[in-house]
Amino acid sequence: MDNTFYITTPIYYANDKLHIGHSYTTVAADAIARYKKLRGYDVKFLTGMDEHGRKVEGKAEEAGKTPQEYVDGIASWIKELWAAFNIDYDIFIRTTDEIHIKAVRKIFKKLYDQGDIYKGAYEGWYCTPCETFFTERQLVDGNCPDCGRPAEKIKEEAYFFRLSKYQERLSEHIRLHPDFISPRSRQNEMINNFIKPGLEDLCVSRTSFTWGIPVDFDPGHVVYVWIDALSNYITALGFMSEDDGLYKKYWPADVQLVGKEIVRFHTIIWPALLIALNEPLPKQVFGHGWLIIDGAKMSKSKGNVIDPHILIRRYGVDAIRYFLLREVAFGGDGNFTGEALLTRINADLANDLGNLLSRTVGMIEKYFNGRLELDHVPDGSAYGIAELVQETVTRVETAMDQFMFNDALAAIWTLIRRMNKYTDETRPWVLAKEPAQTGKLAEVMYTLAETLRVIAVLIEPFMPDTPEQIREQLNISGAELGEWESARQFGLLPKRISAAKGAAIFPRIDIKKELADLEAGKTVSEPQTTEKTDAYKEQPEAVKERGDADIADFAKIKLKVGLIEACEKVEGSDKLLKSRVSLGSETRQIISGIAKWYKPEDMLGRRVIVVTNLKPIKLKGVWSEGMLLAASDGAGNLNLVTVDGDIAEGSEVS
Ligand code: ME8
Ligand code: MG
Repeated sequence: MDNTFYITTPIYYANDKLHIGHSYTTVAADAIARYKKLRGYDVKFLTGMDEHGRKVEGKAEEAGKTPQEYVDGIASWIKELWAAFNIDYDIFIRTTDEIHIKAVRKIFKKLYDQGDIYKGAYEGWYCTPCETFFTERQLVDGNCPDCGRPAEKIKEEAYFFRLSKYQERLSEHIRLHPDFISPRSRQNEMINNFIKPGLEDLCVSRTSFTWGIPVDFDPGHVVYVWIDALSNYITALGFMSEDDGLYKKYWPADVQLVGKEIVRFHTIIWPALLIALNEPLPKQVFGHGWLIIDGAKMSKSKGNVIDPHILIRRYGVDAIRYFLLREVAFGGDGNFTGEALLTRINADLANDLGNLLSRTVGMIEKYFNGRLELDHVPDGSAYGIAELVQETVTRVETAMDQFMFNDALAAIWTLIRRMNKYTDETRPWVLAKEPAQTGKLAEVMYTLAETLRVIAVLIEPFMPDTPEQIREQLNISGAELGEWESARQFGLLPKRISAAKGAAIFPRIDIKKELADLEAGKTVSEPQTTEKTDAYKEQPEAVKERGDADIADFAKIKLKVGLIEACEKVEGSDKLLKSRVSLGSETRQIISGIAKWYKPEDMLGRRVIVVTNLKPIKLKGVWSEGMLLAASDGAGNLNLVTVDGDIAEGSEVS
């Protein structure tokens, strides 16, 4: 059985540093690669750099460097970035690598020898930033239809690839392989906008500059940068080299991830080249959407908000990876804003996951001095936890098969939130008061720890550092407890468990302050957290100290908005006021001890909060059918609680 899995990202242009948008493709590919590795596949994950072409040559000139010096600098910058992102690629190809250059020359020669490449003259338009040829008719007001920048007219002797010859076979392939171009919407776009109107032969060499791979048999020409770049996916595996073992083993690719603007190159030119070479086509090209900032694809935006190194340093790599994969459905576009990022960090990572871990560890420490031993392993049937765990694993697997990272993460977070709710429902702080309930308390602790073990397994493809932090705090060791298959089996943690506090895995962030700093261009490396220690860790204890009312207790008190329609002093008392309060459907008489602070006439028209389900009582001989809420500060001040607007009397307060 073929259990190899070959996944690629595009190779990045070596013309500039990358922004957070670029990291999107690579982080997504890494999550898939890690997931497949966990599932037992023999994975090859390729990324790299696209280093030739007029654009790179121009950038090097500007920087006063030779092109090679220039791309070497960018290459080390990018490798550092991927290391910071925990990108676990297997091969990093550069189009200046010897193995690539040699193979591209051979590919070009082979196509020429078999008549698929022929010599002619090119007269038309070229957009250097996009490295794309256009006909006059394709331009928009003389500008590039893709990026809007001016195109230049070029007239050069050039080689052409017989793309037109492969129109039929390409259409046929797409028809027979409905997943070849994914998602489906992109397939329709390719067929209708590019294939149906008819493919024209493609200019595949340039003579007006030299930074490229020279054509083997005509060195005045360099190979068109897209032909050079696309070939990387097979040259990196040794195609047409002395050792093509990797090529034989891993090609065709299982999936090639690309941004939507380059789907066209990957689903028309690339497969046509492969058909001409008589090699198999990739099983799937997946075109993902863009991360948008201020309405643009980021490339023109600058600043801290989109500098991936700064974002990682401030919030941690797993927070950034989580955000990229969670916020947007992979096929579509999504907005990137500092606020959206920080909101997710606080809500999903600090409040949900961070809280679950810290309160679990905190309770094991507090109630069991950090270690406990059960006489049996709970089966997780109480509260349906084991069943939910199973369901979650299935949902994650289904989502990952379709690269729906956001769905996979949503499923995991449903489990995380459920476990926080489970804690509130089982009320360990109440069980802890009753020596007779120690066994039950231990079961609750086990269930929490065991579910956290499962969560650590499930989040690993997305957040590779966090699982280890979870395991460390819960003293979970043994590789088998981190294996994917173990996630389905509730109850693998041993009966003896222990825990030790660590730092908060995701400290809460002061969003306002943080945004102000980011915008002001501050590059301090530590984020502004709202607390140095993790307040959530203390929550169970704090709740216990404050009483153990839960939401059901609170729901017993019925509060409504009341409108004061009339008010007078209670005869014989200088403290009490008697109000007629409308609750919409009924009117109540309520006595309140507020005469010292409110004159009867001041009360008219106020919208107050009324406790409506108290037993009526008599005060100074007058019936009171409820109570008005008021705040007092202990320094002699008192204010009635009112609503913030004129919501209808009778509205419920909860
Ligand atoms: O296109 N949101 O390289 P590249 C999401 N060298 N993805 C984005 C993005 C954003 N804001 N900005 C860029 C090239 N990307 C060629 C590829 S492959 C044979 C040659 C993605 O550096 C973009 O869609 O311009 C692409 O997938 C990748 O970053 C590299 O873009
Ligand atoms: Mg395979």
